[in-house]
Amino acid sequence: MKYLNAAVEAVDKNAQSERRNKVALYWEGEDGTKKKITFLEMSLLSNKFASVLKSYGIQREDRVFFFLPRVPELFYGFLGALKTGAIAGTMFAAFGPQALQDRLDNSDAKILVTNQALKPRIDKVRSKLPNLKHVIVIESDAFQKRMADASNQFRIAQTQEEDPAFMLYTSGTTGKPKGVVHVHKAIYHQQKTAKLVLDLQEDDIYWCTADPGWVTGIAYEILGTLSLGASTVVHEGRFTPETWYRILQEYKVSVWYTAPTAIRMLAAAGTDLVKKYDLSSLRHMTSVGEPLNPEPIKWGKKAFGLYFYDTYWQTETGGMMIANRPGLKIKLGSMGKPLPGIEAAVADDKGNLLKVKQPGNLVFKKGWDSMMRKIWRRPKKYESYFKKGWYVTGDQAYKDEDGYYWFVGRADDVIKTSGERVGPFEVESALVDHPAVVEAGVIGKPDKLRGEIIKAFVTLKKDVKPTEKLKEELSEFVKHHLAGHAYPREIEFIERLPKTRSGKIMRRILKAKELGLDIGDTSTLEEY
Ligand code: WT7
Repeated sequence: MKYLNAAVEAVDKNAQSERRNKVALYWEGEDGTKKKITFLEMSLLSNKFASVLKSYGIQREDRVFFFLPRVPELFYGFLGALKTGAIAGTMFAAFGPQALQDRLDNSDAKILVTNQALKPRIDKVRSKLPNLKHVIVIESDAFQKRMADASNQFRIAQTQEEDPAFMLYTSGTTGKPKGVVHVHKAIYHQQKTAKLVLDLQEDDIYWCTADPGWVTGIAYEILGTLSLGASTVVHEGRFTPETWYRILQEYKVSVWYTAPTAIRMLAAAGTDLVKKYDLSSLRHMTSVGEPLNPEPIKWGKKAFGLYFYDTYWQTETGGMMIANRPGLKIKLGSMGKPLPGIEAAVADDKGNLLKVKQPGNLVFKKGWDSMMRKIWRRPKKYESYFKKGWYVTGDQAYKDEDGYYWFVGRADDVIKTSGERVGPFEVESALVDHPAVVEAGVIGKPDKLRGEIIKAFVTLKKDVKPTEKLKEELSEFVKHHLAGHAYPREIEFIERLPKTRSGKIMRRILKAKELGLDIGDTSTLEEY
């Protein structure tokens, strides 16, 4: 098998080329601080970081997790972890103690890298994580000193193409989040698609608005895109339309990768605002994460003179699978066509392939480079993703006569709120931890701006008053314990949740009720 280390591919190869002094990252901090980091600097900083991890005793395939906002340490730290041969994991900075505990416990992470501001959330669960040996705080004297003393030369682990490189936790309908493991070779597909779909060229300034706490940030903000030698803008701060336009203008961004909710929020701020900025550098705009309807695409055309190109993929696919790309006619509202090397199809529940225009499960022929290789510690779960040699996405779609794919909806109960994937079970579990709650059923409720919002149906303990104040308290409770982005924006108290005879909450019924739809077959219901 071939030796391959994704960090070498992404950064060192550029650092050893004529691109060595080219800017890899244009970083802008939340407080406005600006930094430029060249490919050579990224290479040396990640070497140093790798040396530091070694000094803490990290071994091949140990798990190193990052719980950081979009700061430079996250970028070179992640690359440094790959260089040691460890498995690097990231966690979105909005996560609360429960979400952190679930991930660090399941992965048995040995080292966690965080900052001063986020550390208190780890402290809350530290005693429950006996295998977490070190918590590195990037501002601490201890870490700063180790970094300063560390060699900027590092003997890179001799990882092979199929060795695990990074993992991300993602949510399904049931159970706790699952650890999706990707191998070093994933970078081949990420690089290829960054070229074809993002159309990155030597002189491009590229801005990906995603966070490396999610897969988009890893595949197209660190690995695939840096490997092409693109200069990447990283903005740590929060979204406002003014800030985003200012960034596009100031850095002369030419290629932009963002998400439908952000586009809808920009649209809501109006076209006049866009026109106040000089965005003449912008030449290509792309989107991912949730359905991109014709409306925001049309608005984009009006505001920027360009179309947003939709791309479809998942944490599990590790890279883009279906996309609109330059040279291919855009059909507004379609996700585009499968990328080269990717075989897509639509199948029924038994795995039989369906014909054109017939909606069903979107599936991909097993075996592309960035396909997940494992669900951490859950081999049966991993197997359950595959049917007759096809990987089953959990999404429903259909194919038209020209080979374009159209998104229909999720086949399961997974919620997509502002493009972020949330498992109803995790939110329900967080709610029932509250002393006033007996049971909870959670659904995604369609929302014009966010795609979906999280709505919870809650039954309360006897003697607890169903007040508006309690609703707020429950929302806050989930926000703090689970995640800042995964809390119910709407709560309804109900007497009893619809359940199957075996006691499973029927979210399908809650959703139908919410949408005012026919409730469908209720023959397995306990009583309703
Ligand atoms: C789910 C994957 C992979 C990037 C970030 C999301 C939905 C993703 C599209 C699209 C309609 C989309 C699907 C998918 N999704 N892209 N272009 N059109 N839906 O990764 O968090 O693993 O979510 O996002 O439901 O399964 P993720």
